[in-house]
Amino acid sequence: MSKAVFIRNASQLVTLKGTSASPLVKEAMSELGIIENGSIWIDAGVIQEVGSDAELFEKYKDRLGEAEVIDATGKLVTPGLVDPHTHLVFSGSRENEFNMRLQGATYMEIMNSGGGIYATTSRTQAASHSELFTESFERLNQFLLHGVTTVEAKSGYGMEWETELKQLEVAKQLNEKHAIDVVSTFMGAHAVPKEYKGNPDSFVEILIEEMIPKVAELELAEFNDVFCEQGVFTPEQSKRILEAGKVHGLTPKIHADEIEPYEGAELASKVGAISADHLLRASEKGMKAMAEQGVVGVLLPGTAYFLMAESANARKMIDLGVPVALSTDCNPGSSPTVSLPFIMNLGCLKMGMTPAEVIAAATINAAHAINRGDQIGSLEVGKKADVTIFNVSNYMKLQYSYGVNHTNTVVKNGKVVVRGGQLIEKLSVSKN
Ligand code: NIG
Ligand code: FE
Repeated sequence: MSKAVFIRNASQLVTLKGTSASPLVKEAMSELGIIENGSIWIDAGVIQEVGSDAELFEKYKDRLGEAEVIDATGKLVTPGLVDPHTHLVFSGSRENEFNMRLQGATYMEIMNSGGGIYATTSRTQAASHSELFTESFERLNQFLLHGVTTVEAKSGYGMEWETELKQLEVAKQLNEKHAIDVVSTFMGAHAVPKEYKGNPDSFVEILIEEMIPKVAELELAEFNDVFCEQGVFTPEQSKRILEAGKVHGLTPKIHADEIEPYEGAELASKVGAISADHLLRASEKGMKAMAEQGVVGVLLPGTAYFLMAESANARKMIDLGVPVALSTDCNPGSSPTVSLPFIMNLGCLKMGMTPAEVIAAATINAAHAINRGDQIGSLEVGKKADVTIFNVSNYMKLQYSYGVNHTNTVVKNGKVVVRGGQLIEKLSVSKN
């Protein structure tokens, strides 16, 4: 059992208190529950007490000797950041496509000529389990160094069962071995395999009849995601795939209205998706439907930035009552980054969000987007002790001072895993 941890005297302690039941919407996204000169007592991996340093010192002064005491004077303390949308497990990189896009090729042109998702699929098919594990483990280290303590991970670079299975098994093993918690999503419907281009419906049948039932039986994922996009899966096919997942206990998620408007936001609301992600081209009708159904809009401004596209309209979504979350979309094609803090900066500058809203979006609302709102995303008694300490004195400065990694300390499940901006050595071995 790990030692108690006492984080003391943060200049701002962002608690997001009282937010576990449902994601934050509208003005509530700005209510961060800040405690100045705040402290937290952590024991047995769980938050035991949150309050002013004076209160907590009084209460725990006789137990200081049994705790690791962290002085957070002058620093910002937030819930560990949550990334609710990544394609974590993949092999290789695609800087050649980056270069092509800079010379005018589009993302979909590259994909339709056999690159893009297909290129990463070939690399991922060829990689061994242990190669994939090692590459993805290193990516998780980088996430942790940026203050992220929980990451959703999608399969989808398989396009056939064996590789999908390999990706999901690697994600499971990463969850077991790495300090970060990894939450799995099956995304067999990431692209139509080349051999099914003339008959995509028969691939849809394989997903529905074979892959989804096996994923559920092996308990390898909680969510089921589809790339609903012109030239990829139609809304009708997407609906069938998502409904099939529901029959097997997989909660729908959807890559919606990313490149072209395709009524993805509407579909997410109809099938009861927990989140609709991307939404660059979502319609107002779709946004309103999401607000009504409480579908979390997971926005990925890093993808818009990297694809040189116009970002989603977060301002409008928040004003309409959509609960908005933020994510990196970490993947080798459209967003090769692990920096959720940079995404938060883009949330402000490219999507009209306020610094307070982006904090809620990268913590509690992100947790709700992966059905973890009751466990993580806020600093409250009884929640997992996932805490990030940044080298800035207030939450606005985290977004204001951009392009710098401000992460100082990360506590995951009550254990210090990053100290002074460095991973602690033991981390490279295992969670336990
Ligand atoms: O979320 N749009 C589909 N999937 C990813 C990109 C995957 C890739 O290009 O490898 C996305 O943008
Ligand atoms: Fe994605």
